[in-house]
Amino acid sequence: MNILLLGSGGREHALAWKIAQSAKVEKLFIAPGNAGTSAVGENVALSPCDFEAVAQFVLDNNVAMVVVGPEDPLVKGIYDYFKGNGALAHVAVIGPSQAAAQLEGSKSFAKDFMQRHNIPTAAYRSFDGTQLEEAYAFLEGLKAPYVLKADGLCAGKGVLILPTLEEAKAQLKEMFDGMFGSSSATVVIEEFLDGIECSVFVLTDGKNYVTLPEAKDYKRIGEGNTGLNTGGMGSISPVPFATAEWMKKVDERIVRPTVEGLAADGLLYKGFIFFGLINVEGEPMVIEYNVRMGDPETESVMLRLKSDIVELFEKTDAGTLDTATVEFDERTAVCVMLVSGGYPEAYGKGYEMSGFEAVEESILFHAGTALKDGKVVTSGGRVLAVCSYGENRAEALEKSFRSANKITYEKKYFRGDIGFDL
Ligand code: AMP
Ligand code: GLY
Repeated sequence: MNILLLGSGGREHALAWKIAQSAKVEKLFIAPGNAGTSAVGENVALSPCDFEAVAQFVLDNNVAMVVVGPEDPLVKGIYDYFKGNGALAHVAVIGPSQAAAQLEGSKSFAKDFMQRHNIPTAAYRSFDGTQLEEAYAFLEGLKAPYVLKADGLCAGKGVLILPTLEEAKAQLKEMFDGMFGSSSATVVIEEFLDGIECSVFVLTDGKNYVTLPEAKDYKRIGEGNTGLNTGGMGSISPVPFATAEWMKKVDERIVRPTVEGLAADGLLYKGFIFFGLINVEGEPMVIEYNVRMGDPETESVMLRLKSDIVELFEKTDAGTLDTATVEFDERTAVCVMLVSGGYPEAYGKGYEMSGFEAVEESILFHAGTALKDGKVVTSGGRVLAVCSYGENRAEALEKSFRSANKITYEKKYFRGDIGFDL
């Protein structure tokens, strides 16, 4: 069959790499893709949020399945756009409906969902700008540090963690005054949870689900988890504290109630659910939901998924995931992200890259790269995911760091301490 994958990051190169390994694939298209995805499929110059253009491409190219990488098209309703259009309704769309995508699109929707279905999460309340005094009073009843979350999508930047009540009040007012545009018109204030994070991924058909390898990502730009938040500087799978016992708690208290809650609430969902979890003294709690795979977790998770992902997608579409089995590679997989100096603040683009042929012991997934006059150049903040297998974490990381040093471009930066806290 012909498959169209939407997106352009490291996550999409990793998904494309995995999809392309399936014997079920005739042609794989990636829209818009990057310099790396063009090696495993055909890039198509389309914007994932231009549904009309995507639909026309699907019809013109006999595409039977659309796999949605990023959250934007999902939150904007691409699933419903296809299912509501007679000529497109037969196309499998891997992703939730617009109503279900609110699990990521609205933090207050997600928190209400968790409360309704008894899923462990931080205590919270949502407020809008007309409730400033009430919100201040709620903050006064919490302990430092204070967690403020813009309700809507903010490309990963909408969460503020503030050490003092004074700063929390000042930032809350700024959020209501448009710090994140309309995304912070409503703000979720919640209890701070102290623990170590872990990302758990499932693929669901709305009734059944399969659990994929878990991973941990490294969000801060600086070593020792310091400095600004980024889209992610690296990832590791498996996660040592995610033991069989811990994962059983995750399954019973979080994953199953979520899938059953979606069905009970009539929220149509055929796709990935990303559970952003935190381990608080051995007990898993939900920090957030995402309605897609994580980046850079996907880069490690795809290395550890042995099963045919296209077969899993077909069963997702057909509602037969109860007949699926998922095999994991027992090895450790790691991802070290090379970024452009300055990121996540202002950084340059268009730097020519070299050294790819010298890398032998890692798999390279492109994130922010483009082809220019036949050469690979940087085109984003996160540039290249350097991924490796190892018999253990140390071995896998050593390979990635050695490979990372072989890639050259101006102002290259990466964290040399991925995995330090495990
Ligand atoms: P989110 O966008 O909800 O994933 O939040 C971004 C990051 O903020 C998370 O990955 C956590 O590191 C942190 N965070 C969010 N909510 C909390 C919380 N209630 N307690 C502690 N840290 C949090
Ligand atoms: N790695 C976190 C995310 O994809 O949102």
